[in-house]
Amino acid sequence: MAIRPLLLPLALLALAASSAAVANLEIGFYSKTCPDAEKIVREEMAKIIAVAPSLAGPLLRLHFHDCFVRGCDASVLLESTEGNVAEKDAKPNKSLRGFGSVERVKAKLEAACPGVVSCADVLTLMSRDAVVLAKGPSWPVALGRRDGRESSAAEASSQLPPASGDVPLLAKIFASKGLGLKDLVVLSGAHTLGTAHCPSFVDRLYNTTDGLVDPSLDSEYADKLRLKCRSVDDRAMLSEMDPGSFKTFDTSYYRHVAKRRGLFRSDAALLFDADTRDYVQRIATGKFDAEFFRDFSASMTKMGDVGVLTGTQGEIRKKCYALN
Ligand code: HEM
Repeated sequence: MAIRPLLLPLALLALAASSAAVANLEIGFYSKTCPDAEKIVREEMAKIIAVAPSLAGPLLRLHFHDCFVRGCDASVLLESTEGNVAEKDAKPNKSLRGFGSVERVKAKLEAACPGVVSCADVLTLMSRDAVVLAKGPSWPVALGRRDGRESSAAEASSQLPPASGDVPLLAKIFASKGLGLKDLVVLSGAHTLGTAHCPSFVDRLYNTTDGLVDPSLDSEYADKLRLKCRSVDDRAMLSEMDPGSFKTFDTSYYRHVAKRRGLFRSDAALLFDADTRDYVQRIATGKFDAEFFRDFSASMTKMGDVGVLTGTQGEIRKKCYALN
């Protein structure tokens, strides 16, 4: 359809506004200042995952928890200081892992190009490489994020989606980050990787009020989970969200969810909403793996744009755990 001449300036204005909103990040941002940056991250990640394949999930999750609180600005990596309890020490972040690996990759980059590559970009690249190394899709990562100077545990506790969330609540939290229902059902597919502690789902096994199990959970599966999590206070045991292939990035998570074997209420909830249910059931057939890989790449790119600092905002930290 042709745009009428009078409408053209308006259309251009709208385009300019929307591209400004899409964050000022660039593919190849470090091509002059640190040309090997992506290669250094990739090579270090290959070594890290070769030794500890189970770190792929935690590194992907770190990026998500970073982006959902103050945007993708590496605020999740900062240590608490006297007078400030940082995001890292918020309750939902207590189970995060992989901080040492981020410091290790950052140290390599500092040795090659001091003060150039932000921790926020390092984390974004590491999460993409984690997915690739777990046999998932790859996608180009636009770079140029800067590191934030603030980190608050209270913000993390109030802004991260709870495992008990239903679709309306999760959709509201995602919308507050500029992400839609499709991003919610697609990014939940990250639960194809990794493990969870009993407290994240035990309320579905031993209902503390009426002694009943969550009816949205397959009862045979609930029996198996109860053998692992012996009581509501069990904090030691781990369960996979995608049993059978929790170290491989694939579509079997959706098959578990479709069979009412999603581990968290937030996973199970994807079957209750008509739009998310359609997507779960479609990908669960195993006939649309390439579509899921494309969708995941697109939603990760969107998530990596959330609230980024660019230009002269923030700083480029020397160490990811502390301000300069
Ligand atoms: C939709 C809302 C989400 C909720 C409520 C949620 C909740 C959780 C919870 C409770 C855990 C287990 C923590 C533990 O007990 O150790 C977990 C693990 C994980 N989450 Fe999510 N999550 C969500 C979305 C996402 C997204 C968007 C990603 C990444 C794109 C992600 C990636 C992961 C990964 C990889 C793990 C496993 C980490 C490990 O192995 O240590 N999650 N999530």
